[in-house]
Amino acid sequence: MREQLQNLHDQALEALEKANHLEEVESIRLKYFGKKGEMTQILRGMGKLSKEERPKMGALANEVREKLEKALEERKALLEEKKIDLQMEAEDLDVTLTKETIRLGHRHPLLQTMEELENLFIEMGFTVVDGPEIESVENNFDALNSPKDHPSRDLSDTFYIDEDTLLRTHTSPMQIRAMKNLGAPLRIVSSGRVFRPDDVDDTHSPMFHQLEGLVVDKGVTMANLIETLNVFIKEFFGEEMQTRFRPHYFPFTEPSTEVDVTCMKCKGAGCEVCNYTGWSLELLGAGMVHPNVLKNCGIDPDVYSGFAFGLGIDRIAMVKYGIKDIRLLFGNDDRFLRQF
Ligand code: DAH
Repeated sequence: MREQLQNLHDQALEALEKANHLEEVESIRLKYFGKKGEMTQILRGMGKLSKEERPKMGALANEVREKLEKALEERKALLEEKKIDLQMEAEDLDVTLTKETIRLGHRHPLLQTMEELENLFIEMGFTVVDGPEIESVENNFDALNSPKDHPSRDLSDTFYIDEDTLLRTHTSPMQIRAMKNLGAPLRIVSSGRVFRPDDVDDTHSPMFHQLEGLVVDKGVTMANLIETLNVFIKEFFGEEMQTRFRPHYFPFTEPSTEVDVTCMKCKGAGCEVCNYTGWSLELLGAGMVHPNVLKNCGIDPDVYSGFAFGLGIDRIAMVKYGIKDIRLLFGNDDRFLRQF
């Protein structure tokens, strides 16, 4: 029996060492400790031993049983741990992994500028109106008092669709549409795309954006024009900004002026952006509405007067954000656009 126990002990341990699954450990347990298990049989056979043999064998059997039970437990624990490790490996869930995020876009800097400008004028009591990009020659030139031989009417300066139709070269035809549709008094702004056959460079694009403003009422003067534009410039660019009104010529206003604004970069000190003048040039054109234009729209210039202005939105956005090249605004490069 001693030998039998020793063999059982060795075999069981060897089997356990080879067991790689919990099921195998369980079947080993059953093989030795199950109801008909080998160890169970031996323990049952104790009764047949002699009185002298029984305690010795009993002690030895207990020792073997304890050792095997311990070995079974240990193997089971080891395999359970291994099973969890394998499971973790298989699931491979890394909570620190960053997922690919879909970034929300936003308004284009030009549209942001356009909206900001419109909102400012809305606060000042203006109404926003909208109009077509394909315009009549009548609205774009004739009704605006532009002489038939004005250079801007030249084929090289205007995209004609046919003799009477064109892509608007400025937003000023919105003055005509507003006065004809709404009559006097009125206070409107209108912004949108305009087109000219310019060669593309860092400050020119065949398509750009303007905002037009028009006020018609009784007793409107140049002082109202200057005050309105000064308030607007300070609101938009900042209190420290100065304006400079230079005499100019436009067919649809008399007198006419071009307005310069303190250079944003150097605040007037002079730098390479403003060619050391301290001024950002030609941000807007303005003037008192020419009596002929009022007449063309059925408004009596002896009763009403008005002022108008047109500003380049692209220019303003470039000045405001310090953008050196207008092409960046239309290039659709996300690396550029996402900054705004
Ligand atoms: N339409 C002019 C241009 O494109 C800008 C302009 C000048 C608009 C004077 C006006 C104005 O309303 O009064 O250059």
